[in-house]
Amino acid sequence: MNEITSTGPPPKLAPAELKAEQARTLAAPRRRYAPAARILFALLDLLYGRPRTLSKFKVLEVVARVPYQAWEHVAYVAVTHRYSRPLFARRIFERVHESRDQQDNEQWHLLILEELVEASGKREGFLRFRVAPQALAFAYYHLSWLLYALKPRWSYELNADFEDHAEHEYALFVQENPEFEATPYDGMFAEEYGRFESVADLFRQIGHDERVHKLESLARMHEPRFT
Ligand SMILES: [Fe+2]
Ligand SMILES: [Fe+2]
Repeated sequence: MNEITSTGPPPKLAPAELKAEQARTLAAPRRRYAPAARILFALLDLLYGRPRTLSKFKVLEVVARVPYQAWEHVAYVAVTHRYSRPLFARRIFERVHESRDQQDNEQWHLLILEELVEASGKREGFLRFRVAPQALAFAYYHLSWLLYALKPRWSYELNADFEDHAEHEYALFVQENPEFEATPYDGMFAEEYGRFESVADLFRQIGHDERVHKLESLARMHEPRFT
């Protein structure tokens, strides 16, 4: 009971489970996205096109990490203010750990996408693929931070929309690209993130991670605030 509990990374699934979970995602309706989420998705379509591409997923992953960074920061500051109540501070610190785990998981997604884009030989423009994603991430960080400071539920809800969208987009990406089934994946980050028989299974796993992130945000929505 004395240890800081942490959710850890989402579970890695076997190939048959990955297929079953992808089918579950495809059969499930999307969440009713809030206006802020819809604006973000429309902006991504505008800047990177509607078709699902490796480059567009990479941008998605640049943005995906920042709510966890914002929450980690707010929770860390809260520990500083609440250390006179050790039990309460411990609970907040558990939240810091959880945000770090989720952030790390998104970081692997980003590095893997970067690796795949590079291997594909696609040339990406500096402004559209380096500067714009950073600007989007900057704005999204502050929005997540502000919503969290006002009412944590709003920030969790926005993140659940973002993760739900990512989960569905990855499931569709695999469905649209049957050649992924025959493309082996043994990338640079296999040691840390995992080995997969195919790129299809790699993306199914990433999509499942996004569902776990979504469920974690939804589970936090009704908890009392601590900041
Ligand atoms: Fe991700
Ligand atoms: Fe995610």
